[in-house]
Amino acid sequence: MGTPVVLITGALTGIGRAAAVAFAKEGNRLVVSGRHEDAGQALLSELRGLGTEAEFIQADVRHDDEVRNLVDRVIDRFGRLDAAVNNAGTEGQQGAVTALTKESYAATFDTNVLGTVLSMKHELRVMQAQGHGSIVNISSTYGHEGAAGASIYAASKHAVEGLTKSAALEVARSGVRVNAVAPGPTETGMLNRFTGTAENKAALVSGVPLGRIGEPVEIANAIVFLASDKASFVTGQIFTADGGKTAG
Ligand SMILES: NC(=O)c1ccc[n+]([C@@H]2O[C@H](COP(=O)([O-])OP(=O)(O)OC[C@H]3O[C@@H](n4cnc5c(N)ncnc54)[C@H](OP(=O)(O)O)[C@@H]3O)[C@@H](O)[C@H]2O)c1
Repeated sequence: MGTPVVLITGALTGIGRAAAVAFAKEGNRLVVSGRHEDAGQALLSELRGLGTEAEFIQADVRHDDEVRNLVDRVIDRFGRLDAAVNNAGTEGQQGAVTALTKESYAATFDTNVLGTVLSMKHELRVMQAQGHGSIVNISSTYGHEGAAGASIYAASKHAVEGLTKSAALEVARSGVRVNAVAPGPTETGMLNRFTGTAENKAALVSGVPLGRIGEPVEIANAIVFLASDKASFVTGQIFTADGGKTAG
């Protein structure tokens, strides 16, 4: 079977970075992708320090040609793509629905939705031809709940869940699985930008039954499970990892 090859977008910080390290520790080969050469090289050194065969490829997921090139280069380098984590995302701009603009809509949807569409399009092209593969998209609890003041972010993540289920149905017979992980509040740069103040962050924590913010590695572990053959009968599912936030 050989050592699996895993591609992660938006891999240079937060959950994506934690996922890269978690996949490396499980013995996978990795292609980490992001927009910044310096941070990409730093992550690459860390992964290779763990004894992992890894590459960094620069790509902005909003651009079809960059995502096509990313996937083509994975195949050129490793000859296969076993799992892909479509993690690149933005919190976009907060604000009331009445204050939304075409530009703020596009700034969020172009990365969170178009980026997921383009990533799946090129990943599925090679996975279907291989006859196997596993895609994990990254949603949010706001992918199945409303978020007052963050409606465009919530709408974008609802779209990610719809795309996940639809793609899963479409490709199931080819041996490819498509799922999503929906994190609750997780300690990353995005959460701090999203909450803005310590008070807002504390208010978010108060809605988490486990009484704390999640760590990126806790989301990474869910991603690694869904991507792996241990989840071989799971497709079209949204796996929520949120400390119980949406259980009630
Ligand atoms: N943290 C949470 O509480 C939470 C909760 C639910 C869901 N999520 C989701 O988890 C995922 C990871 O977020 P995070 O919390 O780990 O935050 P993060 O550290 O900000 O990670 C997001 C990553 O995506 C990259 N990115 C943004 N736009 C991109 C683009 N157009 N092309 C390629 N890369 C791009 C960012 O890099 P740049 O530096 O280039 O912008 C960054 O490395 C996101 O999809 C997010 O929506 C997070």
